[in-house]
Amino acid sequence: MQMPEMPQPTFYIFKCEQSSPPGMPKPSCVSEQTRDLFNHMAQSLMQKGIMGPVQPIRTSCMGRCQMGPVMMMEPGHHMYVHLTKEKIDRIIDEHMIGGNPVDEYLIPEQFWGEAQDISK
Ligand code: FES
Repeated sequence: MQMPEMPQPTFYIFKCEQSSPPGMPKPSCVSEQTRDLFNHMAQSLMQKGIMGPVQPIRTSCMGRCQMGPVMMMEPGHHMYVHLTKEKIDRIIDEHMIGGNPVDEYLIPEQFWGEAQDISK
């Protein structure tokens, strides 16, 4: 059977969907106030006709819980932090469609920086 051609996505969006159990002191990306961010993003991508070229993926903890809700865009290793619906909409318009990262929503350099070289 011949498979239809399928181009690779333009972006993968890894959205942390981890929520801490009740009573856990550590913050997490999903709470009562932030639980619908993933669905909001998915609906916005569909409305703008870019679901497919943009692939949102639910992940567990990415180790930046203090700055949650977070999501990472690939390619580019862009980590967005303290997300809200309004920030997600702007990231879709300016970064995913416009091609320009929204610098003010990116994780501060001291919490990200260059990836470690583990090839030695
Ligand atoms: S819970 Fe989202 S980064 Fe840790």
